[in-house]
Amino acid sequence: MHNAQLKINKIRYMKNFKRTLVTTALPYANGPVHIGHLAGVYVPADIYVRYLRLKGEEVLFIGGSDEHGVPITIKAKKEGVTPQDIVDRYHGIIKKSFEELGISFDIYSRTTSKIHYETAADYFKKLYEKGEFVEKTSEQYYDEEAGQFLADRYITGTCPHCKNPNAYGDQCEACGTSLSPLDLIEPKSAISGSKPVLRETKHWYLPLDKHEAWLRQWILEDHKEWKTNVYGQCKSWIDMGLQPRAVSRDLDWGVPVPVEGADGKVLYVWFDAPIGYISNTKELLPNDWEKWWKDESTRMLHFIGKDNIVFHCIVFPAMLKADGSYILPDNVPANEFLNLEGDKISTSRNWAVWLHEYLEEFPGKQDVLRYVLTANAPETKDNDFTWKDFQTRNNSELVAIFGNFINRALVLTHKYFNGVVPALGELTDYDRETLKEFADVKADVESYLDNFRFRDAQKEAMNLARIGNKYLADTEPWKLAKTDMARTATILHIGLQIAANLAIAFEPFLPFSAKKLRGMLGMETFSWNDLGSIELLKEGAQLGETQLLFDKIEDSVVEAQVQKLLDTKKANELAAYKPAEVKPNVAFDEWEKTDIRVATVLECTKVPKADKLLQFKLDDGMGGRTIVSGIAQSYPNPEELVGTQVLFIANFEPRKLKGVVSEGMILSAVDADGKLVLCRPQREVKPGCSVG
Ligand code: MF3
Ligand code: ZN
Repeated sequence: MHNAQLKINKIRYMKNFKRTLVTTALPYANGPVHIGHLAGVYVPADIYVRYLRLKGEEVLFIGGSDEHGVPITIKAKKEGVTPQDIVDRYHGIIKKSFEELGISFDIYSRTTSKIHYETAADYFKKLYEKGEFVEKTSEQYYDEEAGQFLADRYITGTCPHCKNPNAYGDQCEACGTSLSPLDLIEPKSAISGSKPVLRETKHWYLPLDKHEAWLRQWILEDHKEWKTNVYGQCKSWIDMGLQPRAVSRDLDWGVPVPVEGADGKVLYVWFDAPIGYISNTKELLPNDWEKWWKDESTRMLHFIGKDNIVFHCIVFPAMLKADGSYILPDNVPANEFLNLEGDKISTSRNWAVWLHEYLEEFPGKQDVLRYVLTANAPETKDNDFTWKDFQTRNNSELVAIFGNFINRALVLTHKYFNGVVPALGELTDYDRETLKEFADVKADVESYLDNFRFRDAQKEAMNLARIGNKYLADTEPWKLAKTDMARTATILHIGLQIAANLAIAFEPFLPFSAKKLRGMLGMETFSWNDLGSIELLKEGAQLGETQLLFDKIEDSVVEAQVQKLLDTKKANELAAYKPAEVKPNVAFDEWEKTDIRVATVLECTKVPKADKLLQFKLDDGMGGRTIVSGIAQSYPNPEELVGTQVLFIANFEPRKLKGVVSEGMILSAVDADGKLVLCRPQREVKPGCSVG
């Protein structure tokens, strides 16, 4: 596992830097945070920061909400509230839920703060005055009814490539082609539904083309150690040739462009948001922020998801370089996406596990979520979260290995030694082997963490618990206690030292459980550098009270979560339902040939060996008839239909179905979800009446 690359990263890091600045993508405050955000960005960043702090390094962890952008204005309009109302609501929910999950930001602020407006405006002004922008006038779609220019995403129309009628101004989701609004056939405003018109508008552009040469050198030559998914995306952008990017928009929500004649224009959200990292640092450290942003001995890291790569590896660095006084990121450990039960997570389709809901529904189980999201982190490719896997990882890893080991070691110490750390006697070969095995864990966990390989790091830490669990299972101190107290003492002493190591190793990953465990072990101080020691607990020291670290998650609990998702899926299908196209016209005398009548159901039973068929005995007013109908799955209790009325085609050619002759066809509607619903007259009528 210690390949050359791992070593190179470590050396680079140790040589050049004194402190680490960790930023996490500012989530849009137009919805709560979900497990995809967590697995991709916040959990790994928090692990990394806790690890550095534990090593005694100087580190700053910056977060905040991204409160600008068109989607927030649209949501506000839809709800009839102001954009500020929307961001106040979600900023509150997001901030609180991060806190409860133990994401240990030094500051979690927001881009509607006063200091951010000032910082972003000043940033723009400096670049403007240095001549770092180019001004361009272009024609853009304007919605006359709504009185505003339209963001690409808010223009829909027909895709010129595949003719999908619902393509967006930036992309056709049917064929995947990226588009410009001007490509759309019959464009329509998504805000008012009206036909937009072209209007001239002036904007400021960051000329990325002028930055291309140094970016190419800096990323493709000087940062070959970046993760392959990140490096690859950068390479393909640079190889395609960089284009100037507009940094302003015609919109009334955002930081106003701070130059004359820019009325009605704000900074583009992707220009102001990364400056939010700087504003938030300033807010926290008004006198000391510059050392974090302008000192070459600061190592800056951006934790983000893959959709943010170009902004953090190309656009923001170009902004920093254009200013000239800032450092550039040393690494951008972006992750891929986490899916949910096989489908892409989507805020608009409500296909997500929302953090604030999880915290409410699984109180005290923050670490379970942290564990599962790290174990499945989409580090090198998209990954899938399933509730079944969540349950399995909890029950057969956290409970059966980690929890079981801790519980055994502590309960036995309380039982045989009154909760006092017993003496270490002579070691056997097996003891020595066990100790040797766990001596490597520290170096292994470290080299994985130093390389942002959090799932491997956690797996390695978990190996400590596996070693401990196996050690107790093999040595069986509960049996030895009857005959050999000295040997029992040695075994439990070793077991407790392993437990104490777990309390350190898991602090970055499972901070709540690690703290609980330290309480149980009576550990007051601890440091990462002690990891691997077998002298963490002194002989004779008193242990604390034993508690359960993890508990089993029952089937019914995860089944309820799966049901919640199935309900969402159903609701989405219904919302997306479109009636089928109408068949070609038929002439009246053609139609008249069909003879539809009313009948009363006399008997209704399942047809044996046919799971879709019901057999009806009908009073049709003409002596009665039998009809077989394929609606059994929509009517699980056919006897309830007796006495009701139905419509049927009386002159339908008789046919044999599963051995029964069916004399006609019963009419039912097909609902959006595929369920069949019988048609009947609005009040009871005489059997045999015709319908037309
Ligand atoms: N709000 C953006 C997103 O969720 C991320 C912004 S990151 C920052 O994709 F750098 F702009 F802050
Ligand atoms: Zn298309």
